[in-house]
Amino acid sequence: MTERLAGKVALVTGAARGIGRDLALGLAAHGARVQVADREAPTETLAALDVEHRGLALAADIADRAAVGSLFASLDRLDILVNCAGITGWVDVTNPAEDVWDAVVATNLKGTFFCSTEAAGLMRAVGGGSIINISSVVAARGHHGLAAYGATKGGINALTIQLASELAADGIRVNAVAPGATNVARNLADEPRYAELWAERIPLGRAAETDDIVGPVLFFASPDSAYVTGQVLYVDGGWTVVGDLPDAYRERIPGS
Ligand SMILES: NC(=O)c1ccc[n+]([C@@H]2O[C@H](COP(=O)([O-])OP(=O)(O)OC[C@H]3O[C@@H](n4cnc5c(N)ncnc54)[C@H](O)[C@@H]3O)[C@@H](O)[C@H]2O)c1
Repeated sequence: MTERLAGKVALVTGAARGIGRDLALGLAAHGARVQVADREAPTETLAALDVEHRGLALAADIADRAAVGSLFASLDRLDILVNCAGITGWVDVTNPAEDVWDAVVATNLKGTFFCSTEAAGLMRAVGGGSIINISSVVAARGHHGLAAYGATKGGINALTIQLASELAADGIRVNAVAPGATNVARNLADEPRYAELWAERIPLGRAAETDDIVGPVLFFASPDSAYVTGQVLYVDGGWTVVGDLPDAYRERIPGS
């Protein structure tokens, strides 16, 4: 569509499906050569990229520090990293499962951190780059059952600030995109009325499509955001800025 990322090499983790898959397609559509990674090599996503912008399909469990090292050792250049791989891991706080907590922290927080530090090594070699972390609205709003997930996404927001500060001198910008409820196959399988139920609660009147996340990520990946680092952009149709009013007050102006 455009060539604004021409000459740039990107890596998207969690690119086999959902948001990560469409982010890979979006970066390629704007001229980047895109490498895609997931627990199993995301060959279908790679095949969906046009040949000119097709990099490698790589298998790596980002919760495994050694696997992250091997993943980045297979790259010869990197300008853009999108840390999209993530798991939800529902936790019952009355009987919390330690293995779920550990798995969510290992993928979402540890994985994001070590992918970023590995990427920074490659980005220094080309004079800079852009790291984009995929956070969540659950970093900012309470959500039943998501204590572990929310803690990791809040951690990603804090990590974004810390890494932005530490890597700025190397010309590496670090920002986060925090999606709200998004219509991915996983969510629609969990709850067939997912889109409809969220549409009732979101000021813009609908859940996000994966495409809604692409533009904000492209902004952080491109020179359009050359002077922006350490920021978290909520892409949620206005959900996080609206208090959960009693139904009787939703459309009422007191005194009128
Ligand atoms: N869908 C939403 O409503 C929503 C909302 C806010 C944030 N997010 C975030 O967006 C990102 C993508 O979510 P999605 O909805 O597209 O999920 P998804 O389940 O459709 O896709 C996630 C991908 O990440 C991969 N993955 C998971 N753990 C991994 C690991 N340890 N190593 C390598 N790959 C791994 C999975 O195999 C899968 O392909 C996640 O970070 C998620 O927390 C999603």
